[in-house]
Amino acid sequence: MDDRLHYGSPAKVFHWLVVALLAIQFPIGWFMPDVHSGPPGRAMTLHISFGLIILALILLRLVWRITHPVAPESSLPPWQRVSSEAVHWLLYGLVLATTFTGWLFASFRGWSISYFNLVPLPMLATKNTDAIHRIDGWHQIAEWALLIAIGIHVAAALVHIFIYRDRIMQRMLPGRR
Ligand code: HEM
Ligand code: HEM
Repeated sequence: MDDRLHYGSPAKVFHWLVVALLAIQFPIGWFMPDVHSGPPGRAMTLHISFGLIILALILLRLVWRITHPVAPESSLPPWQRVSSEAVHWLLYGLVLATTFTGWLFASFRGWSISYFNLVPLPMLATKNTDAIHRIDGWHQIAEWALLIAIGIHVAAALVHIFIYRDRIMQRMLPGRR
């Protein structure tokens, strides 16, 4: 397959932008007031708006990833190549699952949601109280699964930096290897 050997600047910019936005998004989610009872306030609107930027970026990034594949580092043993690729795909999937379940939850609540109070956003479904109970907790499950996958991914990066002392981390840092 005609894979590239290095991540290019677009892949690196997408990677670190999503990292930065997730670092803001998780605390907003945890610290915003309980939203079960009312229409979305300022914190919720911020949460939804950041979530949608993350969704747009991850979709663009996925298209970029599929059209610009990068070969795993050739010095890695096969089990590390397979497991790192698996965790990468899991990360894409879990970011999508987290944004989608959040949007679905807001839709079933019948909220009118907007992008930073500027652009109204379409609902994914009509208001449905039974469905809210059915999907209650899905967003939390997705967000915690995402956090665990990120933990594994970051732990692997740290092992490469401090134990294997190879150049895996450099693949995702600015500049050439
Ligand atoms: C990757 C992006 C996202 C992350 C990491 C994230 C994370 C979180 C977190 C940490 C909470 C607090 C819930 C808890 O106590 O554990 C939360 C709640 C919530 N989020 Fe998100 N979220 C994301 C995207 C979205 C999007 C796109 C929407 C809507 C369009 C959304 C809607 C909601 C709603 C409605 C709640 C409150 C519902 C509940 O407590 O079950 N989220 N989110
Ligand atoms: C400080 C935290 C992070 C560090 C140090 C880090 C480090 C890295 C490194 C070194 C690579 C390249 C691995 C290789 O192929 O050789 C990589 C790839 C990747 N990272 Fe991270 N990462 C971090 C956070 C995240 C987060 C939060 C996400 C969540 C979406 C993420 C998603 C990905 C994905 C999907 C790839 C594969 C890129 C591709 O081939 O499409 N990373 N990361």
